[in-house]
Amino acid sequence: MSRPIALVTGASSGIGEELARALAEQGEDLLLVARTESELVRVRGEISAATGRFVAILPLDLERADAVEVIREALSRQDLSVCHLINNAGFGLAGDMADLPVAGQVGMVDLNCRALLALTLAFLPQIRENGGGVLNVASVAGFTPGPGLAVYYASKAFVVSLTRALAFEERESGIRVCALCPGPVPTKFGTRAGFHLSGAVDLTRPLSAKDVAHIGLAGYFGRRTIVVPGLIPKLMVAILAVMPTRIVLPVLARAQRQRRSR
Ligand SMILES: NC(=O)c1ccc[n+]([C@@H]2O[C@H](COP(=O)([O-])OP(=O)(O)OC[C@H]3O[C@@H](n4cnc5c(N)ncnc54)[C@H](OP(=O)(O)O)[C@@H]3O)[C@@H](O)[C@H]2O)c1
Repeated sequence: MSRPIALVTGASSGIGEELARALAEQGEDLLLVARTESELVRVRGEISAATGRFVAILPLDLERADAVEVIREALSRQDLSVCHLINNAGFGLAGDMADLPVAGQVGMVDLNCRALLALTLAFLPQIRENGGGVLNVASVAGFTPGPGLAVYYASKAFVVSLTRALAFEERESGIRVCALCPGPVPTKFGTRAGFHLSGAVDLTRPLSAKDVAHIGLAGYFGRRTIVVPGLIPKLMVAILAVMPTRIVLPVLARAQRQRRSR
């Protein structure tokens, strides 16, 4: 019998690190994937010392076309099988599409969409066998077009849409399928994207990556399909559902410009 694990992508920092920590606290063994080996080693050390769980790491760039095969080999070498797939790795790039590097924007789709899909399709049979599930980290950005961060918003719309459809298709199989859709969270995300987090998040106590991870896992294990953590992000999603896109677009474009200029 192979050892069932939670495979967490982007587990070297931020929300992914906290999801990994919380899963181990709930008794799950882990395989952690991200590019930065030194950070994975740190996270593995902290989690295994605190929980005593088995924690394997795999330094890997998920934009690589052969990433799924590399993960498959790592799993089979260690006799592991995926029970919970946590598709968390992702990034954004702030700016107008015409001004941003092509490779960065295409790479965003490779990571946020293609890798997430490829991992889901590759490990769905194991997830079903183990009675686990798929937790995709999307965003409130998945509920509207977002000029100034357009490819990122579109990539998260892909994740929300795919998750909803997969949850419906898998309703008889018994596995969990959930999209966690946070608003702004203080992590390294803003630095890589090239902006400062501000705006709605300033109106209330910002949720930490740890808060978001715990709320996300409660929703996932509670079999919810869409989880939006926090009051302000919930309000944002409710407003986006009724507000005409022609009004939303200039408001979002202005907000993104202000974030970039701070
Ligand atoms: N922070 C927010 O405001 C916010 C809001 C809504 C949704 N989200 C979503 O939450 C998820 C996690 O983001 P975060 O806020 O926790 O940001 P973060 O601290 O920057 O974490 C991103 C993680 O993804 C990994 N990663 C990035 N590129 C990768 C690649 N090519 N291959 C493998 N791993 C890669 C990073 O590790 P390495 O750099 O070591 O590879 C890191 O572990 C993302 O999907 C993001 O879109 C964030």
